[in-house]
Amino acid sequence: MPMLVLGIETTCDETAAAVVARGNDGSGRILSNIVHSQTAEHARFGGVVPEIAARAHVDLLDGIVARAMQEAGVGFAQLSAVAAAAGPGLIGGVIVGLTTAKAIAMVHDTPLVAVNHLEAHALTPRLTDALDFPYCLFLASGGHTQIVAVVGVGEYVRLGTTVDDAMGEAFDKVAKMLSLPYPGGPEVERSAAGGDPKRFAFPRPMLGRPDANFSLSGLKTAVRNEASRMMPLEPQDICDLCAGFQAAVLEATADRLSVGLRLFHERFGPPRALVAAGGVAANHAIRDALQDVAAKAGTTLIMPPPALCTDNGAMIAWAGAERMALGLIDTMDAPPRARWLL
Ligand code: KG4
Ligand code: ZN
Repeated sequence: MPMLVLGIETTCDETAAAVVARGNDGSGRILSNIVHSQTAEHARFGGVVPEIAARAHVDLLDGIVARAMQEAGVGFAQLSAVAAAAGPGLIGGVIVGLTTAKAIAMVHDTPLVAVNHLEAHALTPRLTDALDFPYCLFLASGGHTQIVAVVGVGEYVRLGTTVDDAMGEAFDKVAKMLSLPYPGGPEVERSAAGGDPKRFAFPRPMLGRPDANFSLSGLKTAVRNEASRMMPLEPQDICDLCAGFQAAVLEATADRLSVGLRLFHERFGPPRALVAAGGVAANHAIRDALQDVAAKAGTTLIMPPPALCTDNGAMIAWAGAERMALGLIDTMDAPPRARWLL
């Protein structure tokens, strides 16, 4: 009998629920995966407003869970576990998701698994690609920029992180200063395609450093300084600024990741793959750069499909199933956490 797990995700601006099956052989299957993105609710504020997000989760989550169960054709009594992202994230939303999972667990006498959202991103390639440990994860989203050695379920070693802004956050901030709409990442990518990456010589932060950390705020400030010097901006200026910024991010990413992969190799031997996840991995120029980095390091690049790279319930359900398979379940006093390192 496969294990059936309901997963709930509410740590940022996606309200999501999914049912995933995990076979005894470790194989995974998504039975349903419902994601409501709140982008429209937040767009006019130019970013996610935590209070609005939490209220929207309250309004939407019950219906989304019901749809996920119905689409999967599964009743609550059949669930092996209910999993929720217990952090890290915006605390109001985390409380909504975790409390809902606890209520379901109590009413239906089902085990609860409190999942770390980052762990769920880290384990997703085992659902989509049946990947074996150990592998190297590059996670770049609006809230996180990390290089992580995924050694086993619950065994994660952080090899690098950002010392200031997250990569997606830097894209969003650059978009905002150039008056491009929210969310800014895809807009910057689009504008960069029509720009000259060599017109501006932006800094390549941390290049050549022996650690695998990122720094993005200096680059962002350099873009701001250049932009304010040239005001008012012509459309071509915006494209060139975006192209220059993206080129700097690409070079820094390739450099930091090649160091990260070297550190990985020294400690854990050759990785089975380099895995990219998070919204920034949707960027085509970054995907190409990662392909090069993986090839140079003699490993393969795996990218779960975009819908599973960005926040969703299936990744939480799957991480819940992986933990459940090892007997790692939680009690009703599992706390919601705004901050929670892997
Ligand atoms: O993983 P995600 O959907 O949500 C979390 O932050 O958890 O990532 C969203 C982030 C945003 O900052 C967005 O601007 C960025 O990913 N992003 C991109 C692209 N698409 C989304 N950044 C650069 N290029 C893109 N094409
Ligand atoms: Zn995420």
